Amino acid sequence: MSRIVLVTGGSRGIGRATVKTFLELGDQVVTCGRNLSTWQKAVEQDAELAAAEFLTVDLSEQRELDELFSQIQNRFGQLDVAVNNASPANPATGQYASVDTPALAESLMADFWIPAQCLKHELNLMRAGGSIVNISSVNGLRPTPNAAMYSAAKHALEGLTRSVALEAIQDGIRVNAVAPGLTWTTRWQLRADQSGNPDLRSEMNGIVPAGRFAEPAEIASAIVFLCSERAQYIVGHTLVIDGGVSLK
Ligand SMILES: NC(=O)c1ccc[n+]([C@@H]2O[C@H](COP(=O)([O-])OP(=O)(O)OC[C@H]3O[C@@H](n4cnc5c(N)ncnc54)[C@H](OP(=O)(O)O)[C@@H]3O)[C@@H](O)[C@H]2O)c1
Repeated sequence: MSRIVLVTGGSRGIGRATVKTFLELGDQVVTCGRNLSTWQKAVEQDAELAAAEFLTVDLSEQRELDELFSQIQNRFGQLDVAVNNASPANPATGQYASVDTPALAESLMADFWIPAQCLKHELNLMRAGGSIVNISSVNGLRPTPNAAMYSAAKHALEGLTRSVALEAIQDGIRVNAVAPGLTWTTRWQLRADQSGNPDLRSEMNGIVPAGRFAEPAEIASAIVFLCSERAQYIVGHTLVIDGGVSLK
């Protein structure tokens, strides 16, 4: 039976691959992003994405975040699956003591407070059998100099996932997380372009035991698995998909 699935930030990268994978399973998918043009470009590249419903939403705007869930409530009345994936390129890079305070606040908001609020809305739209995956990071499991607030926000998301998982399973709803390692998406392409280093990708390949970046579809497979019946006994777990990076 087709499920109602929300994937936040589905116009690029891991979110886009996740939208596509759910569509292939025959699910009804709702996604969002700040820029309609990015989504339109994605649909031009991959016509199958047109089956998803895209809503132009900036989740950093409280009203727009709340409105997204009102629309889902009015349109579908419920959610079966939700993936909290949306995240902007890290606005707070550099040595912690020197990063501008507003950038630190923005990073905390983007990678913790926004998914935390989405999680609350999603739980209120779900019933037994529902499943939620928060997209964490290997940076949520270990220290990350020069991206300390991003790492702290993802650590907080890890803690929230496990605590809420224990509450939600009492209603038959499973909450888990996925922690990707290096995954080649637009944020990495942007970083390569901005650094002016055409060898960034091959240099970074060298730090991964598997010898390469993940493809977004490889992360999407894990997300979709956690939301499937095959994972029905998995609760409050973080599935690390990092080619071995966090073992070092
Ligand atoms: N790529 C990696 O190496 C990596 C590693 C570990 C964890 N992760 C995590 O994986 C997730 C996805 O990363 P990615 O690399 O796939 O990102 P990405 O390619 O930069 O895509 C991010 C998506 O989120 C949307 N978005 C960003 N800010 C938003 C906002 N305020 N409101 C609504 N939508 C917003 C973007 O669309 P618009 O720009 O149009 O809004 C886009 O669709 C993130 O949670 C990230 O922290 C990524």
